[in-house]
Amino acid sequence: MNFTYYGHSCFKVEVKGKHLLFDPFITGNELAKHVDIDAIEADYIFLSHGHADHVADAESIAKRTGATIIAAYEVAMWFAAKGIEKYHPMNHGGKWAFDFGNVKCVNAVHSSGLPDGSYGGNPMGFVVTTGEGNFYYSGDTALTMDMQFIPAYASLQFCVLPIGDNFTMDATDAITAAKMVKCNTIIGVHYDTFGFIKIDKQKR
Ligand code: NI
Ligand code: MN
Repeated sequence: MNFTYYGHSCFKVEVKGKHLLFDPFITGNELAKHVDIDAIEADYIFLSHGHADHVADAESIAKRTGATIIAAYEVAMWFAAKGIEKYHPMNHGGKWAFDFGNVKCVNAVHSSGLPDGSYGGNPMGFVVTTGEGNFYYSGDTALTMDMQFIPAYASLQFCVLPIGDNFTMDATDAITAAKMVKCNTIIGVHYDTFGFIKIDKQKR
């Protein structure tokens, strides 16, 4: 697996020759000005929930690359109505076998509305299991006891967790989450992008 970070909660994992892009929010992110969005490859675009800081660039990247959007039913259908032809709707507790591996949708304690105010269904996390390794992306979420189920689904090479506080977990809760999911490699995301989530990175 090969991991690339594009700022905020946007990252890409390359696995089995496929490019899995998560929560694209680049053009609206001051901290991602250096990212050439047109150079990002994608075969699949995962959207954890409908908020603009997770879906803003999904339509343009999906249309340019022909990637399949994987998201909650309501989010997937919202993009289908925009002319996205390849999408795979899912919901909490469900799993599906894709060509790169399996995806299981797990609980995230957050909210989910789309940028135009449409209902965005349940916010989700994803447990991705592949022949090259497994990882968990929690999406925007509070620390939740439901995370204790995750080791039963996969032993993780890494987990991607929000640490920005205010809208999600802070770093302290993310460390507790990592213990629950039994993973020592934490990639902290969803911090510093805008005012409410600027964090003191020296603080312990
Ligand atoms: Ni959110
Ligand atoms: Mn967010």
